[in-house]
Amino acid sequence: LEDLLAAGVEGRGVLVRSDLNVPLDGATITDPGRIVASAPTIAALAEAGAKVVVTAHLGRPKGEPDPKFSLAPVAAKLGDVLGRNVQLAGDVVGQDALARSEGLTDGDILLLENIRFDPRETSKDEAQRQALARDLVELVGDDGAFVSDGFGVVHRKQASVYDVAKLLPHYAGNLVAAEVEVLGKLTSDPERPYAVVLGGSKVSDKLAVIEALAPKVDTLVIGGGMCFTFLAAQGIPVGNSLLEESMTETCKDLLERFGDVIHIPQDVVVADSFAADAEAKTVPATEIPDGWMGLDIGPESVARFAQYLTGAKTVFWNGPMGVFEFEKFAAGTKGVAEAIVEATRSGAFSVVGGGDSAAAVRLLGLPEDGFSHISTGGGASLEYLEGKDLPGISALDDTAPEA
Ligand code: 3PG
Repeated sequence: LEDLLAAGVEGRGVLVRSDLNVPLDGATITDPGRIVASAPTIAALAEAGAKVVVTAHLGRPKGEPDPKFSLAPVAAKLGDVLGRNVQLAGDVVGQDALARSEGLTDGDILLLENIRFDPRETSKDEAQRQALARDLVELVGDDGAFVSDGFGVVHRKQASVYDVAKLLPHYAGNLVAAEVEVLGKLTSDPERPYAVVLGGSKVSDKLAVIEALAPKVDTLVIGGGMCFTFLAAQGIPVGNSLLEESMTETCKDLLERFGDVIHIPQDVVVADSFAADAEAKTVPATEIPDGWMGLDIGPESVARFAQYLTGAKTVFWNGPMGVFEFEKFAAGTKGVAEAIVEATRSGAFSVVGGGDSAAAVRLLGLPEDGFSHISTGGGASLEYLEGKDLPGISALDDTAPEA
């Protein structure tokens, strides 16, 4: 961003791709973390006199306007955080967006409606995506610039993330630059012992990162909904717990190859239904009763996982250990998170990745300064650690069009 600011942005249209995909309860934002993290880049551009056009997505609407996914609450919150007026366009690249972008004066901020209301954003057809990218360019004019700052979405090859960078001089925003720098420390020669904590519900999303990290780390502990597929892979009945049956063979193979590194819970908290007020009890992981479902890891597992974290010098955590949104099933996530805070206070470099884990940190009242870095990227941080090409970042390496 420094380069762009140095080149001068006063009076110039700048398109910023941010990740403002925040959790909502109705129209209430339950965790504004991504908005807060996105604000500095937008503020810096507005203060330098740019006409700032911000584009972002919210959720996964089906390629057409849907009031449930409107960015209206996000625009209001962004305005609060910035202490500036943020206009919201009534469409993505339609008449309202065009008229408003033409009316911008230096330092104004315009947020476009949810970019995924336009089906071309996520199209597999490159020509479609490029057409949308051209429409976006029109909003900032030919002398405009593009700032990629939506770290949480850089793993998506989408029009506003990837294709638009081919059409405008492009720059990494402050958030993208900071995230890449921090995550880079995890991949290039991390200090040992290196412990990774993985949770969350979908084992299929995590297998690639387990495969990539297991040979490189000292400890990899697995909790959350995904641990039941690992238990099932050992022939343990898991009752009504979450299970991705088609993944059991891969989990078994991972346990066989990396058994000395991968650790799964030995006790779990089970419930008779998926509800905040469900009946709950702690049982050995090998004795999940028929008809019950595991919703958290048990206290013995928390204690053992905490032991692995004690003395770690590098820690990466992605995914909650249980259904922390329900108080009865929050102890596992809280206990493991507290162990990471302890490790951090004893000098470990710790990174929290993933919207759910970052939200857990805030909702469970854990100190944000108890972690070295809270990443705004979920899938993006995992793919970064897997060493995958991230379209939203590699697009910035390409030679920029003439400024
Ligand atoms: C996220 O929440 O991880 C990012 O905003 C990306 O959203 P997506 O998974 O719907 O592309």
